[in-house]
Formats: sequence, structure tokens, C-alpha cells
Amino acid sequence: MCGIVGIVSTTPVADRIVDALKRLEYRGYDSAGLATSVDGRIDRRRAPGKLTNLRERLAAEPLDGTIGIGHTRWATHGAPTEANAHPHTTNRVAIVHNGIIENFRELKTELDKDGYKPVSETDTEIVALMVTRELDRGMAPFDAAASVIKRLEGAFALAMMFKGEDNLIVGARQGAPLAVGHGENEMILGSDAIAIAPFTNKVTYLEEGDWVAITKDDARIFDREGQPVERAMAQTQLGVSMVDKGNHRHFMLKEIYEQPDAISHTASHYLDLANGKVKLPSKLPFDFKSLNRLTISACGTAYYAGLVAKYWFEKYARLPVEVDVASEFRYREPPMDAGGLALFISQSGETADTLAALRYCKENGQHIASIVNAQESTIARESDIVFPILCGPEISVASTKATTAQLSVLASLAIAAGRQRGHISEAQEFELVDMLAKLPGAITKALGSEEKIDQISHKLSKAKDVLYLGRGSLFPIAMEGALKLKEITYIHAEGYASGELKHGPIALIDETLPVVVVAPSDDLFDKTISNMHEVAARGGKIILITDEAGAKSVGDDVDEIIIVPDAHEFVMPIICAIPVQLLAYYTAVFMGTDVDQPRNLAKSVTVE
Ligand code: F6R
Repeated sequence: MCGIVGIVSTTPVADRIVDALKRLEYRGYDSAGLATSVDGRIDRRRAPGKLTNLRERLAAEPLDGTIGIGHTRWATHGAPTEANAHPHTTNRVAIVHNGIIENFRELKTELDKDGYKPVSETDTEIVALMVTRELDRGMAPFDAAASVIKRLEGAFALAMMFKGEDNLIVGARQGAPLAVGHGENEMILGSDAIAIAPFTNKVTYLEEGDWVAITKDDARIFDREGQPVERAMAQTQLGVSMVDKGNHRHFMLKEIYEQPDAISHTASHYLDLANGKVKLPSKLPFDFKSLNRLTISACGTAYYAGLVAKYWFEKYARLPVEVDVASEFRYREPPMDAGGLALFISQSGETADTLAALRYCKENGQHIASIVNAQESTIARESDIVFPILCGPEISVASTKATTAQLSVLASLAIAAGRQRGHISEAQEFELVDMLAKLPGAITKALGSEEKIDQISHKLSKAKDVLYLGRGSLFPIAMEGALKLKEITYIHAEGYASGELKHGPIALIDETLPVVVVAPSDDLFDKTISNMHEVAARGGKIILITDEAGAKSVGDDVDEIIIVPDAHEFVMPIICAIPVQLLAYYTAVFMGTDVDQPRNLAKSVTVE
């Protein structure tokens, strides 16, 4: 999750870009850089570390120019050095980029054959070289950018400027945010409205797949097919508050859409993408190799994330895991062998029961690790080690992006544990890391079912009760789906392990009961199909969340199918979290409930 700013103006831009980057430092701050163009020549300054280093560099070697792009980086490909800092330039173009270009290795091979060699380890430079190749072939800047953007896979946002073009910046949004600010005789690009706020309160938020060409006078926006489109201009209120909903109707939807970006940020913190490895702090206060047991405690959605992690740690690291809701754990006085590892998951870091469970474990000689979003929180402060979630502020009471980011952290830890305990080879680690690196792209695709889910939600809103079913690591996602639905629609919902159906809940099934089945085509799929037949035979209405292969083999028993992208079972719980969030969201919107602040709830539960 890096920060991007671009300005095309009639007055000097360098200092203003750095000021705007300051407001984006929350997105990453391991290096920063800036490029401007003067008299057809692109110049740049970059510096490792925080933005103050770039400021010092600029004080010594100022940059003129009325057009420029800047970047504050959270390293994904390559260490946070000056050489890897953005902008990446060639003799023809300068580019800044946020996110991950998934197909950069194959593009690199292709460029290599044509003699275009990168000097950094970044995926961004590959984009710069691709554009340069198109320019060398005689394309105009605008067309060169368009032809390259089409070829990029993954979840990203980028901005580029061209040698000899002092009145054009091209930007693109695919899975990571980008907004256009409409100033007086100038146009601005920024990762969010917070960056743009000092210049103008007139903002257009690009939609998924959009790309834009800004000059000092206008912004032309195109959709992913290259068709010119109009996107509404909004007035931001950022003078009053630093967080806003962008062009989304609710924070919950904004946060659902932030997931590709949030997850690439998390991935870049925990994964060494260039080498296909998990990277954890070098000094952990515990050793995965010598652990006999991992104890996880959390509440609500965070507890379900812990349940998914149990499947991962047990399967990939052969590490026995106990997971409990913190409110139960703290009072049942579980015996604990000293020197074990206790892990606490909490978005707010202030949840009273989770904190009490932490203190119990500390008194009982456990190493304390936590996965939190609020890094200044009490849970973070009382932990021996904190694994930050890094998803940015979550405003909606119903948790979405914090959940999938928690899952990404847990998945990375499970791989590290598997590797250290000798149950995962180097090659397997590479494959699993690659799956996590591709998640932002897969989540962007999963978000594509939004319209279909909106339609299904109209039916769901009529239900009094809804059953969610899942097996294996998708069982917790079924419970998460049920929690999300009841939380924001007030419809009663329960999540069950599919195999438990016959042991009681099947008695509920009749034609009024929708059953949401979370079942991609994995090893357990046939068993779930049998469960679906049992539901259909009793008149139950099935909404199936599955992949293409699952959809093909399922037959007529299903009323609705929501397709998720094909992926390995390892990452499926994270991908399948998206449709269950959207289903709850659209049902709530259709029913007119207070989506972001549902009744009786609070974002941070600091009482037991
Ligand atoms: C549900 C939800 C809650 C929280 C729970 C724990 O959408 O948000 O169930 O997950 O209250 O909160 P944290 O993660 O702050 O400890």
C-alpha cells in the first residue's frame, strides 16, 4: 500500500507533491521519491527512509517544473533502497506505482528478449520499460500507456509522465485506489482524497479498471475497454474529518473495496515477493520449531479468522492449535505449559475479553503475540511481539478488510511455521507465497460478482432465518457470513459445518429457508453436494458460492450461484470472505438498515 501523487499545473509542483505525500505516509514510508519535467527533461530525486530524507535531498538539489509525480513506498518487490524507490524512470518515461503487478516475471522475460533490462528489482520498472518499448516503436505517449495498462495483471494503481510531454499524466486504477482532484488551472492525481484535499475539494474517484489522462485543464477518463466515460465529481469534506467514504454509499462498501489494496499492503510487509519467501522480524520471542501447541483467543469475526488459521497451522505446520472465544477462554482456567505461544487477534486491540485472555496467558508463562490493526492499542502494548494488520482505519462496525488482512497475516505465519518446523519445502513456500501475492487480483475478481449478489440479496431480505454451510477452512467463513448478515440486517442466521446438517439443523429446512453454501470444488466438494441434495429434497433454497468447476458439476438443485475465481484451497477462505460480506451488505442496503452503525453494536468492545 504505497501513496501516489501527481500534479499537472502552471506553478511549481515539487514542494506541494511532497506535502501531499506527507498526508499519504500512513500508506507506507520506507522510501520516497519525486520526478518533475522541465523543458522536456525528466529529473528525479529519491531517498530511502521517511519523507524527511527526501525533503533534505530536495533542499540540497531542488527540482523545478510544473508537472510531477511522487511516491511514498511500502516495499513489495525489492528492499527499501534508493535504487528501488519510485519514480522509476527510463530515458522516456517516469512511473510511480502502488500494488503488485502479478505477471511481472513473464513481462520481464519478454522485455529481456527485446533488450530492455531493468536496473532495479521492482515490478514497477517493468511497466516503465514496457511503456518505453511502445514509445520506441513509435506510439504516442497516451497510446503507449493504454496498450501497456491493458497487459498488466494484479491489483494496482499507477501514474506516469513522459519525456517531452509537460502537460500529461496518465493514471490507472485496478484494485488499488486512485482519485482525480480538479483544481484551478491544475489537475491532481492522488491515492486518496486526503492527499488531494489541500489543493481542491472537487474529487472524482476512479472506478475499477478506469484509467485517466490529466492535463492542467481537464481529465479524460476511460473504462477498462478504453471507452471514454463520465464519472461523477464529489465535494469532499476533508477539512472537517480525515476519513471519508469516497464515492461509496457506506464505509462498509468502501472497506470491502479496499481489500485488494489492504491485502497487498499486508503482503508486502510479510512476504519477500521477489524471492518467494515469508519475511518475519529476525528476532521472534518464540521458536516455532519447539512449540507443542498454539493457543489462539479472539472475539467475533477475529475469532473466526483464528478458526481458519487452525486449519492452516495444523495442515501446513503440523502444529496443534486451540482456538477459543476470549470470553470463554478467560474464565475456564485452562492449564497451560510454560513457554507456549498464545496469539490474540483484534482489529481494535482494545477488546476487553481478548485483553483479559492475554493477561491470563501472560500470568501462565506464555509468549504473547498479537495480530492487531491499532498498533498503539493496549493489546499491542502488552504483547511480546505484534504482527500488525496494516489495513488502515476500519470505520464500519462490521469488520471486512481487517478480517481478510488478519487472515493474510495468519496465512503468512502458518507458512513460516511450516517452513521452520520442516513441513514445508522451499519450493512449497515459494508456491504458497505466490498464492498470497496473487490474492489482491483474485479479490478484485471476486468483487466482480457485486451485481449478481445485489440481485440475490433482494430474495434474502425476505427470509426470517438463513443457514450458512461450509466444510474445512470454509466452515469458519460460513459462520462469518452468518455473523455479518445478522449483524447488519438483523435477520437470524447460523453458520454450520456442512457435515452437522443431519445432526439437527436439517429440521429447520423448508421452502422458506435460504441456505448459503460456501463450497469451492475442493476435495470435500462431493460431500457438500450430497448435503445440498438433502437440503433441496426438503424444499430449501440454495445459494451456492463456488468456483467455475464447482458451478459446472453441481446440477439443478441450486437456486443461485455466486462464482469466485479459481484458486488453491489455501487461499479460498480469504477469497470466499468477499461474497459473504457483499451478500450481507446488499441485503442490509435493500432493507434500509443502518449499515455502518447497526443497532446495539459498537466498533470497539471495551467492556465484557
Ligand atoms: C463483526 C465484528 C466483531 C469484532 C469483534 C472483535 O463484524 O466486527 O465481531 O470482530 O468485536 O473486535 P476486535 O477485532 O476489535 O477485537
